[in-house]
Amino acid sequence: MSWLVTGAGGMLGRHLVRHCGDEHVVALDRRGLDITNADAVDAAIAHHRPRVVVNCAAWTATDDAEKHPDRAWRVNVTGTRNLARACRRHRTILLQVSSDYVFSGISRSPYHEDAPTGPLNTYGRTKAAAESAVLNVLPDLGYVVRAAWLYGVGGRNFVDTMIGLERTRESVRVVNDQTGQPTWAEDLARLLARLGSAAQAGTAPPGIYHGTNSGEISWHGLAQEVFRLLGADSSRVLPIGSGEFGLPAARPAYSALGHGRWARAGIPPLRHWRSALHVAFPLLQEAHVQEGKTRESIRN
Ligand SMILES: NC(=O)c1ccc[n+]([C@@H]2O[C@H](COP(=O)([O-])OP(=O)(O)OC[C@H]3O[C@@H](n4cnc5c(N)ncnc54)[C@H](OP(=O)(O)O)[C@@H]3O)[C@@H](O)[C@H]2O)c1
Repeated sequence: MSWLVTGAGGMLGRHLVRHCGDEHVVALDRRGLDITNADAVDAAIAHHRPRVVVNCAAWTATDDAEKHPDRAWRVNVTGTRNLARACRRHRTILLQVSSDYVFSGISRSPYHEDAPTGPLNTYGRTKAAAESAVLNVLPDLGYVVRAAWLYGVGGRNFVDTMIGLERTRESVRVVNDQTGQPTWAEDLARLLARLGSAAQAGTAPPGIYHGTNSGEISWHGLAQEVFRLLGADSSRVLPIGSGEFGLPAARPAYSALGHGRWARAGIPPLRHWRSALHVAFPLLQEAHVQEGKTRESIRN
């Protein structure tokens, strides 16, 4: 039995490869498999014959997607459809990682797995279309796991950015009108590995699941928590509205996700975001220091 992970060079992919249990894992980064190449996708699955494919490959630059919608679509929708079709041909389970940005954000309570989507930006539209492709092409073998606000070692992310800014800035301005669920890539990776095993065992029904840490907080609140964990004064984090911040892509004001579906799979949902962050924090700090040292030695 083996797993095949696409986008294995990315932040989540790297975490996941470590968590696929003792089974054989084929880890393919973009150079190993470009998912926009349908023939290469089919050949990889025919060759490796995995029992489970986890698609961590994606165009993840939300703001750049507004400038390059065709390129984002090619990776996120065409690429995912290529995988889904190959999985159908070879009767392989596919776990597709999706996003909270498929929602509009008008809700004020956590989104149910089956709530209607209504993305506000190009990236969200591509992720919603990719979800439909997986569910339509693979009604019996397709799993969509929505993630959000991911952070972890070895990838650009908000928590790491705040660790850096605390050292270099007197104060930072962070949006306080978007609420969501910061999610540790390590927790999500473990959950995906569990879901893949349950899917193989036939104990997890196919469909949509929400792979986020529980609870909810604004970006401003998350930045304050990072400052507190650094032993810094959290009042140095100043609230600002998204309008004032002016990013090209609109974001949902509220995108917390409900976790009810996990009960059907016999898998507990992820812990509270604050507990996860507290466990992750020393590792993130250490990685931040190490990356700084590496940058320094490259410069010298
Ligand atoms: N990060 C978040 O906050 C967040 C939130 C919600 C959902 N998600 C979802 O979580 C998943 C993993 O995201 P991540 O945070 O790990 O992102 P990431 O670090 O940007 O990883 C994505 C990986 O996909 C690769 N890739 C891009 N185009 C590809 C192609 N045509 N073929 C194969 N690989 C390709 C990238 O390679 P290159 O670096 O070489 O381009 C990169 O290694 C994605 O589905 C994303 O949409 C992420």
